[in-house]
Amino acid sequence: MPQSLFFNAAQVVTCAGPGRARRGVEFRDAGVLSGHAVLVEGDRIVAVAPQDALERASPQAERIDCRGGVLTPGLVDSHTHGIFGKPRHEEQELRASGLGYMDIAKQGGGIHSSVRDLRTRSEDDLFALALPRLRRLAAHGTTTVEVKSGYGLSVEAEIRSLRVIRRLQDALPMRIVPTFLGAHEIPREFRAAPRTREEYIALIVHEMLPLVQAEGLARFADIFCEPGVYTVRESRHILTAARAHGLLIKLHADELEPGGAAELAAELGATSADHLAAISDDGIAALAASPTVATLLPGTMLFLGRQQQAPARALLNAGAAIALATDFNPGTSPTVNFPLMLTLAVSQLKLSVAEAMLAATVNGAAALGLAAETGQLAPGYAADLALFEIEDIRELPYWYGDHRCLASWSRGRACHLTS
Ligand code: NIG
Ligand code: FE
Repeated sequence: MPQSLFFNAAQVVTCAGPGRARRGVEFRDAGVLSGHAVLVEGDRIVAVAPQDALERASPQAERIDCRGGVLTPGLVDSHTHGIFGKPRHEEQELRASGLGYMDIAKQGGGIHSSVRDLRTRSEDDLFALALPRLRRLAAHGTTTVEVKSGYGLSVEAEIRSLRVIRRLQDALPMRIVPTFLGAHEIPREFRAAPRTREEYIALIVHEMLPLVQAEGLARFADIFCEPGVYTVRESRHILTAARAHGLLIKLHADELEPGGAAELAAELGATSADHLAAISDDGIAALAASPTVATLLPGTMLFLGRQQQAPARALLNAGAAIALATDFNPGTSPTVNFPLMLTLAVSQLKLSVAEAMLAATVNGAAALGLAAETGQLAPGYAADLALFEIEDIRELPYWYGDHRCLASWSRGRACHLTS
């Protein structure tokens, strides 16, 4: 099998260790090596070792010059809403003038506005819009990305969104993990008589989930469990049904107000509970005692202009495992720049750079049930790598908002290359 040697890196940041979510003492050291190279065979990493030793051992390997940059595991963005139509820039000014996120939603904007728009678009149109957006994620170092449906909210438009994700999986070298988010909102037509929210929930459970399962369209089901959207009781019902249809589960939990969603995530053994800016002390304790990964999305609070960020240090001190992601979506986090999330993780969430890197790689992979496959540079793991034009990993969060990714690879295949 063809071999490639990634050489001439100022640092190789391995994030190596157990293939599971890291917490406690395992969440300290990102494994920063100098003088090292990475040997890849086909789609796998076979060695991370001193460069001169690997050069001697594998003289026939194709040489990939890291140009004095920093080589890391490909970033794992475990939370995006990549399937949408138009942007929603008008809401940014509405918020600046004092309207809240939920006020805009109550007036038919927010998620409802994206739903109206998506329903008018064909599968081809949605595919053509999503493709360059995912390429831009890869151009910032992301090689694994979770992509949710959730702007269709009808049987047909949700299935159409998930089929677009399947086409993206075939079209791009990135690893794409599909999530069914039919429970992103209660669609407007089910909020007013004669139709009811119970009817929409029944539609999810009895029509959407069986179709998602029959076509094998998703790995996860997610829900927006939040006061004013889905209650804890409704969420328990929908997620239990999703699990019975073979899906793993995730929740948008305690994003804006505390509502017991983190506790529900722990109770149900969800793979991850995401957002958590408004998590309660009981929620922190529940996640710390569970295997559920707490996925923090600091870009969302930044973009919404809210002061409150998820209590990352309290979660860590309690013993929870945390991951970072972009929440890329048209309403609350229109960014593809994962390194910017590292900046926010250090400056707002008060993580060390090593913690931020582990949260963006191995723990992101754990939030997708993939920690034994990706998220670290170690023998046997997928050849998922990102190369940045910096000399020290601490520069990655430092040059904030900058574009420093020189290249990224998923399973040995280039997702992004610069000359
Ligand atoms: O993660 N909170 C729910 N979903 C998205 C926002 C969706 C939107 O506003 O379009 C989020 O913040
Ligand atoms: Fe989200």
